[in-house]
Amino acid sequence: MRRFLDLADLTREEVLSLLALAERLQRQPEPHALAGKILGLLFLNPSLRTLASFQAGMARLGGSSFVITPGQGTWQLETRLGAVMDGAAAEHAREGIPVLASYCDALGIRAFADGRDLAADLAETTFNTLAALVEKPLINLESALNHPCQALADWKTMDDFGVPQRGRLVLSWAYHPRPLPLAVPAAVLHMAALRGMEVVVLRPEGFALPEPVMAKARRAAALAGGSVRESEDRREALAGAHILYAKEWGSTACYGDAAEEARRRAGLTGWCVRNDWFEPAAPECRLMHCLPVRRNVAVADEVLDGPRSIVRHEAYNRLPVQMAVLYRLLKGL
Ligand code: CP
Repeated sequence: MRRFLDLADLTREEVLSLLALAERLQRQPEPHALAGKILGLLFLNPSLRTLASFQAGMARLGGSSFVITPGQGTWQLETRLGAVMDGAAAEHAREGIPVLASYCDALGIRAFADGRDLAADLAETTFNTLAALVEKPLINLESALNHPCQALADWKTMDDFGVPQRGRLVLSWAYHPRPLPLAVPAAVLHMAALRGMEVVVLRPEGFALPEPVMAKARRAAALAGGSVRESEDRREALAGAHILYAKEWGSTACYGDAAEEARRRAGLTGWCVRNDWFEPAAPECRLMHCLPVRRNVAVADEVLDGPRSIVRHEAYNRLPVQMAVLYRLLKGL
């Protein structure tokens, strides 16, 4: 494996093999496996889990890491090709990224969606521009439409809790005061479909996921024997559900139009997950969320602090699955 950019680049068997490696590294730690190896981490956007878990994972395997957050102690980075650099950015990615890559054995990049042009974000314009500058092993730390590390951790979390392979996962839109990127919902939808689950995307009108995202998930479901569909009916969607995966995302009907977006979401504050959402679900139905989550805005305290929530285990699992990814990329085994 040379790059970990999208779970869809791997076969289902390769994903299962990575999960098995994550389990093995949990049972039998290898504290010297990556001795002498260096991981570079470039964050164009904020992070808590991704940053800390990659640094911790590299250290637990005997390697080391450095973190660059442009504009915070390092030069602001221009990513647009052909830009006239007369603004705040003093360095262009065309120099900065190959220089960073030359200092390390693998590089991770986080570059969120621009949030203005859906077609450009669907094409992963920014991430692909940066990825093209890297010849070393590369990890997607979250791009416009993908978060493969989150998706892999989520798969492991469901395995850890015995969620049936053919179980029902409801990916539910949740309220947030601002439009958030589509990366996590797109990655989770694909992951659950590839796991073979019955996936229902529950969302209000105007918040359907883009057709290419749905089509990609349908292809994965067809391979794995699962299914993917959408619903606006909460009770129907959650009937018998094993997982309620809450996530906030922006409207695809008015992508990039801040005024229309605000108008659409103004009436949707009721999309805050509460205990009564689980009434039609399976008794053992769990809450997942990638974090960070706004308490009592997207998910109520009563759910996050209750027995259904597995969000902390989910966040913890970023560590073992990313250790498996690093092991594969840097050891090749
Ligand atoms: N879920 C996730 O990627 O968290 P961070 O944004 O804190 O890294």
